[in-house]
Amino acid sequence: MHSFGYRANALLTFALTILALMCAIASFSDNFNFPSPSAQIQIVKFNWFQKQAHGNDEVSLTMNITADLQSLFTWNTKQLFIFVAAEYETPQNSLNQVSLWDAIIPAKEHAKFWIQTANKYRFIDQGSNLRGKEFNLTLHWHVMPRTGKMFADKLVMSGFRLPEEHR
Ligand SMILES: *[C@@H]1O[C@H](CO)[C@@H](O)[C@H](O)[C@H]1NC(C)=O
Ligand SMILES: *[C@@H]1O[C@H](CO)[C@@H](O)[C@H](O)[C@H]1NC(C)=O
Repeated sequence: MHSFGYRANALLTFALTILALMCAIASFSDNFNFPSPSAQIQIVKFNWFQKQAHGNDEVSLTMNITADLQSLFTWNTKQLFIFVAAEYETPQNSLNQVSLWDAIIPAKEHAKFWIQTANKYRFIDQGSNLRGKEFNLTLHWHVMPRTGKMFADKLVMSGFRLPEEHR
């Protein structure tokens, strides 16, 4: 005759097996979601553009960020971490990436939005390379799943240009 302890243990093992199986199915079924996120970023204005005392260029700008990231959400999605980065080339580096703004999107209902905002983090070049510089604004996202691997992707918006003169 089985003891109560033995039966409880068997039940627990069974429950854990089912849970592990459900997690595997959840992260596997995520592979069949083909998301189609969209985003648009406009520069409303350059607020100011200066050379700092020690020579680095710094710019402040206001952006209008519009995005529909709802398709990134599946029932296995916990939240999204998103950030907008300015990306540009200089003679020293083929890719300079400066994070300007970020946010956590906790649920699908919040994944379609627009926001007008100044840069939350400072846009500084380690040098004085920004005058008349062409740059991209890239929306990056990290999808944090409830179970399984995190994945990341981005949308690049190109063709922006900084003012020719400090002001
Ligand atoms: C930002 O862009 C969106 C979509 O293009 C537009 O609907 C909204 O009115 C804009 N907001 C401002 C403050 O310009
Ligand atoms: C900016 O975007 C364009 C077009 O997608 C790409 O060719 C270029 O390499 C990007 N520039 C940087 C610095 O990432």
